[in-house]
Amino acid sequence: MNDIFKIKDNTLFIDNVSTVALAKEYGTPLYVYSETEIRRRIDEIKTMFTEKYKRAKAAYASKAFLTVAMAQLINREGLLLDVVSGGELYTAIAAGFPAARIEFHGNNKSYEELDRAIGYGVGKIIIDAFGELEMIENLAEKYSRNVNVLFRITPAVEVDTHSFISTGHADSKFGFSMDARDEGNLNGIYSLFQKAIESKFVTLSGIHFHIGSQLFTNKSHLDALAVALGVYREVNDRFGYALPEINIGGGFGANYTEADDRKPYSYFLDPVMEEVQRFCAQYDLKEPTIVIEPGRSIVGEAGITLYTVGSIRTSGGGTKYVSIDGGMPDNIRPALYGAKYEAILANKADEPVSETVTICGKCCETGDKIIEDGTLARAERGDILAVFTTGAYGYSMASNYNRLPVPAVLFVADGKVKEIVKRQTFEDLIRNDLTI
Ligand code: LLP
Repeated sequence: MNDIFKIKDNTLFIDNVSTVALAKEYGTPLYVYSETEIRRRIDEIKTMFTEKYKRAKAAYASKAFLTVAMAQLINREGLLLDVVSGGELYTAIAAGFPAARIEFHGNNKSYEELDRAIGYGVGKIIIDAFGELEMIENLAEKYSRNVNVLFRITPAVEVDTHSFISTGHADSKFGFSMDARDEGNLNGIYSLFQKAIESKFVTLSGIHFHIGSQLFTNKSHLDALAVALGVYREVNDRFGYALPEINIGGGFGANYTEADDRKPYSYFLDPVMEEVQRFCAQYDLKEPTIVIEPGRSIVGEAGITLYTVGSIRTSGGGTKYVSIDGGMPDNIRPALYGAKYEAILANKADEPVSETVTICGKCCETGDKIIEDGTLARAERGDILAVFTTGAYGYSMASNYNRLPVPAVLFVADGKVKEIVKRQTFEDLIRNDLTI
């Protein structure tokens, strides 16, 4: 268990706050984040990367978890912010996040999204489709504003993670393949680069790749980097243009269960920086800035979800089901990826585990299970269950399935509590519904 968690008086504490007291005061289900842990992970990025290397920058991938308060925290920490939709962009701007430090992604950005992004003056746009450069040039002219662009490339490397979150393989829907062609474009990605270099509306800032998520080895990043450096050199040779940056995406893993063994950022990034230096020295090239975009590794372990135990039954097949008052609407990851989690009874934190149970949600779905065959102390109706490492892609992927309201979100830091998102109400659920 991460050291932000402590057990006192048979109760689980997070960042010096009793989870049982939080459940009582704010209700369940409830997302709780340790702000201390989020800041600790950001500090690790600073000491192991952005402050260690001269040409290194980090963006937080907001898709992992974004609210107005989270955008404010990232702003205060001085990171860049990666957004991937008009909604994420709007949240960031509403939080006062400086547009110049926002990087706008997306494999299918609409003209309207690009219009907003360029209107706000976002720092960089990562082009991920044919036709996007032309839309950007058009809008750059409209706003009389030069736009920094990167191209997302598909390095075609295999990645050791769930296929749903693997994004750098040859058949990916993301990015331009090395021989990307469309009608009239017979020279693959290089004709796109040439167009951007020659454009009076955009500045070509570099190339980007993101190969997948929840990675524990650095091999895929290094394989993809080799491809990106090849492109970097080719652009230099063909056009005499040194791409200012290579963005290597996110993907650094978090610990969900005892079996996981998260590596420090330095494990991934030191070899990347060494290889960039070596390559550039070998071919006498200027060194590009390396940018990373971690999401999960910053917020994953900082977050827990608290639930109240309800019905408990043993099925005809012998499975003991412990039901909780949330489930797949607040955490879709087990149903979607077969993701594994660990949990304890927060009000019986000192009691030894004594049963094997399946923790299921309250949705009308057999697959609505948060943990299958996990171990717990003896559960009873009314107990508070804490599920660990729900900080990434939990709240951000939440839905209103079965019309369950999205839970509240809290930040806690050394004994202090801040509510950062209010629980949805039933009124919220019908707010946009119209009668006939
Ligand atoms: N940059 C780009 C362009 C991305 O597409 C992603 C994640 C990231 C950065 C951040 O990756 P991270 O550091 O969080 O691994 N919903 C899935 C994860 C999808 C990740 C999509 N892209 C899950 O719950 O596992």
